[in-house]
Amino acid sequence: MSSKPTYLGLLNAVAVAELGGESLFKAWAAVTPNEDVRALLQTVALREAEHARSFAKRIDELGYSVLSKDDPGLPERIATAKSKKLTDREKFEKFGLTYRRKGADIFTRFFNDMTIDIQTGELLGRYISEERDTGRRLKACYDGLLAAENGSSGKSTKAPNAPAPPKKLTSSRSVKRTSSAASRAKSA
Ligand SMILES: [Fe+2]
Repeated sequence: MSSKPTYLGLLNAVAVAELGGESLFKAWAAVTPNEDVRALLQTVALREAEHARSFAKRIDELGYSVLSKDDPGLPERIATAKSKKLTDREKFEKFGLTYRRKGADIFTRFFNDMTIDIQTGELLGRYISEERDTGRRLKACYDGLLAAENGSSGKSTKAPNAPAPPKKLTSSRSVKRTSSAASRAKSA
């Protein structure tokens, strides 16, 4: 008789949190006036969506179901994401997506459980790498918005409320990312 995996709670927590993340980034992407920010938020929303599903799928393969957990703060965060009064820069700050903290992140502890099976380990490894990449991209986007607001981008003709494109997302790569995000959305 196989016993319940000790890391089931971790998988469940990720599945639930990523579902909330999908709603939040989708809602934000729908209202941002900045095309580059929207492209990034759509990418992040797709990642969150896929994480939620793949963790739910793994939980199912292990013989269990996702136990949904109430997140009382989520409706308010989604309302913040949908706000047309707040700028994107302000939303980054409200969501704590400024990435100022140095050192180990929460994912470092994920592999402390020495019993994690290979398939779950693969999923966790990809998930962690993707989350860290998302963090780097969001940080670059926030830094770009901040720099633009502080006038270091030279785009002083913009209205104060219209967030300028983040510096690191204005290359041709951001165009590629936009179209690949769009094609992923179509094929989804
Ligand atoms: Fe996430």
